[in-house]
Amino acid sequence: MDQAPKKLFIKTYGCQMNVYDSERMAEALGASGYVTTEVQDEADMVLLNTCHIREKAAEKVYSDLGRLRPLKEAKPDLKIGVAGCVAQAEGEEILTRMPLVDLVVGPQSYHRLPEMEARVGQGGRAVDTDFPEDDKFEALKTRPKAKRGPTAFLTVQEGCDKFCAFCVVPYTRGAEVSRPAARIVSEARGLVEAGVREITLLGQNVNAWHGDLEGAEGGLAALVGQLARIDGLERIRYTTSHPNDMDEGLIAAHGHEAKLMPYLHLPVQSGSDRILKAMNRKHTAEQYLRLIERIRAARPDILLTSDFIVGFPGETDADFEATMDLVREVRYGSAYSFKYSPRPGTPAAERKTQVEPSVMDDRLQRLQKLLGDQQRAAQEAMVGRETTVLFEKPGRLPGQMVGKSEHLFAVHVAAPESLRGEIARVRITASGPNSLAGELAG
Ligand code: 5AD
Ligand code: SF4
Repeated sequence: MDQAPKKLFIKTYGCQMNVYDSERMAEALGASGYVTTEVQDEADMVLLNTCHIREKAAEKVYSDLGRLRPLKEAKPDLKIGVAGCVAQAEGEEILTRMPLVDLVVGPQSYHRLPEMEARVGQGGRAVDTDFPEDDKFEALKTRPKAKRGPTAFLTVQEGCDKFCAFCVVPYTRGAEVSRPAARIVSEARGLVEAGVREITLLGQNVNAWHGDLEGAEGGLAALVGQLARIDGLERIRYTTSHPNDMDEGLIAAHGHEAKLMPYLHLPVQSGSDRILKAMNRKHTAEQYLRLIERIRAARPDILLTSDFIVGFPGETDADFEATMDLVREVRYGSAYSFKYSPRPGTPAAERKTQVEPSVMDDRLQRLQKLLGDQQRAAQEAMVGRETTVLFEKPGRLPGQMVGKSEHLFAVHVAAPESLRGEIARVRITASGPNSLAGELAG
């Protein structure tokens, strides 16, 4: 007789790459007889796929682990694993601090999860935070053919060699590695066969992808060009990009590649040259602004988003005003902004000139107000215009569907459920707090 499948509950923290990694970990553990569940209490294994980017995100993991204690007491066979960047950064220490944890697996080792799970099944504990020679994506060649929703992430590049002074990513995710084009294209084909219409290419430095393709300088533009030839794949996005890796080919692709959506997340972090230098960003505010001009020349309606850090060590009022000026000049569609959080092992954490928390709060509030106003303006500018929408799921109201516009705005439309997974033209009729409303056009 077949054994009943074991149940796996994964909680994903942090960035989109973790969302992708969680899917792949679930697939890897599928080989050990696990199916995923949305209900933590019925799980045989709980995996926390963690984020180390800011202190708050990392500490949340420990409080969530503490909250698993009663469940582990009620179900002593429950396996608890910590994956992702906290696992990479803290390794063994997690086992010491949290005796209920059975396994710790870094982001480069999740293809080894089945072996680790088996070891835990025999009563052991397991830690793997190597950067192994064997490629985890190669080891997890095929993806299951199950039907999927219309959008998917696909990791094409991992790691970062930029070493921004505040950032743990080069330490937790390691050096930049690009996946080979043929593997990416075949994974994309598989996703499209399973019903995917829109793929977001992921990488910590996605536009530094340097694969093995001819043309368009061999960079991400060439890969986008290859993917655009896949019938049935209608939309392509990519994130996250460093300004210094926006090459001519990629900028031009925004002008001529119809499947490449008019949306670009291009973090700048600060508008002050002094702070950009201290952050080791290797560009000035002016260079960033000129880059934006070139991108907008190629694709005038492109929507730009960014990340900002306020209160980087040594940031003065004048530095912060320079950030506000840059934001006013660019006019973003939306953006994330964070208070600087000192991360162990990063150069900025050593600096003596940490900014007062109350000053950081004040700056964050002002920046978020400005960015919020810009988001509202960007949404309102859509009212009365037509765009295409890829419908993803039913809305909250009966007879309503929700999907994403080309500019990645959520749009609510009165539409039949049969439009799920389809792209339709929609006229935008209103703008709400975080989404748009529209009606099917023509
Ligand atoms: N403190 C605050 N924000 C940070 N980020 C990265 N490291 C830190 C840090 N130490 C932000 C950056 C980055 C985004 C993913 O997280 O803005 O672009
Ligand atoms: Fe971190 Fe900078 Fe690399 Fe982005 S480019 S992952 S902020 S080091």
